[in-house]
Amino acid sequence: MQDVPVHLRRSPGPSFKSIAAKDAVLPAAHFFEEKPFFEGTQDIPVSRYTSREFFDLEKEHVWRQVWQMACREEHVPVVGDTYIYDICDMSFVIVRSAENTIRAFWNVCNHRGRQLVSQPGRMKVLRCPFHGFTWNLDGSLAFVPTEWDFPHIEGDDFGLHEVQVDVWGGFVFIKPRPVDEGGETLTEYLGEIVDHFAPWHMETRFVEAHVAKVFNANWKVVEEAFMESFHVAGTHPQQMVRLGDVNTQYDCYENFSRALHPSGTPSPLLNWVPTEQEMLESLLDVREGEEAPVQIPEGETLRSFAAQIGRAALRPAIGDEADAVSDAELIDAMEYTILPNFHPWASYQRAVYRFRPHGDSHEQAVMEVMLISPFEGERPAPAKCAWLGVDEPWTKPDVLGITGRILDQDSTNIAKLQVGLRSAPIAGLRMSSYQESRIRHFHAWLEKRIAAGEVK
Ligand SMILES: [Fe+2]
Repeated sequence: MQDVPVHLRRSPGPSFKSIAAKDAVLPAAHFFEEKPFFEGTQDIPVSRYTSREFFDLEKEHVWRQVWQMACREEHVPVVGDTYIYDICDMSFVIVRSAENTIRAFWNVCNHRGRQLVSQPGRMKVLRCPFHGFTWNLDGSLAFVPTEWDFPHIEGDDFGLHEVQVDVWGGFVFIKPRPVDEGGETLTEYLGEIVDHFAPWHMETRFVEAHVAKVFNANWKVVEEAFMESFHVAGTHPQQMVRLGDVNTQYDCYENFSRALHPSGTPSPLLNWVPTEQEMLESLLDVREGEEAPVQIPEGETLRSFAAQIGRAALRPAIGDEADAVSDAELIDAMEYTILPNFHPWASYQRAVYRFRPHGDSHEQAVMEVMLISPFEGERPAPAKCAWLGVDEPWTKPDVLGITGRILDQDSTNIAKLQVGLRSAPIAGLRMSSYQESRIRHFHAWLEKRIAAGEVK
């Protein structure tokens, strides 16, 4: 290994690609592409997580400029439905203004600046509760109270301040820039991920569960805890039996990155070799002394067996399309990150994460988890968001299943990270070259946005 240049070094053990290549149903060609990111091994400055100045730069050059996921389309299913999306000290209102049109506005009354919509719901017009100034759902001015006193308001230039909005995969994204400013479209911003996700029809899902939790940590501290599986041995050791943690493939594209974690293969860090049945029992969380509910049939592997079960489970929702779903899509953990803060899991793995500063704080964050699931028949209403405080576990709402237990393991690190960073005797974090390359790519992306300054 000493002779191999640092950017080419990989863990011993089978790679994601070599495992997937042996499956009965192969995944799409892009799963066999590698896009490693390497721009050196310099430390990541601690101030990125602790300084108010850096947070303000992010606000100006990231949150005010880029496409970001605001809500699901099903949060505003009917004309007049509204949804509030807040980011840092900014508030936006998402409105279904016509059957096939969703608009987004700065959530501000043009008169005295009150937050326009405080209680989202179904509305005929957008009316400020302070004095009654009213706008139509398309943002045009509808009513000026005591109009005689406002001869200086001319309807055309007193419309709401509309921002750019577009929908991908059932997710409503906004870019907080004026609609007439143009610039990069959502499709351009997303790039190749649109093709990667096309087979999974995310727009045909519904929000089955939605939980938000507050953390005492910078938003990137929380997000970066979910960008590598190097921490599995330390934080989730129970997964090592059937997860190739340090064999994970990390790929970085323009505005997104991904981690392909091979499953049905043990961690190379494990000092024993589990059987296929032991790997299954780990996957099903069968505890010591408990009877396994199923046995892997003779001649099958965990991958082939789990793929068959996964296909059968999908059939009611997607019919014969289930036959074309690859083994990897059914068993491997494939996480994507659309920068800056949106993590949809690939395939049918249902989980979607979003990370934001909590209000305008650089030392508090909110992580949201949605489970978006296929459904039969009429689309069920989206789950209401259950909010958890800093001391409440993910398992409290009892809607996330085993994911909640794993997230609780992650949570143990997060507040402690901020405590350590605040008092750090070091100026920088020494991240690895490959396994933490998605975090390095994220920081390179932030640096590029911030350096671009006023570039919109
Ligand atoms: Fe984790």
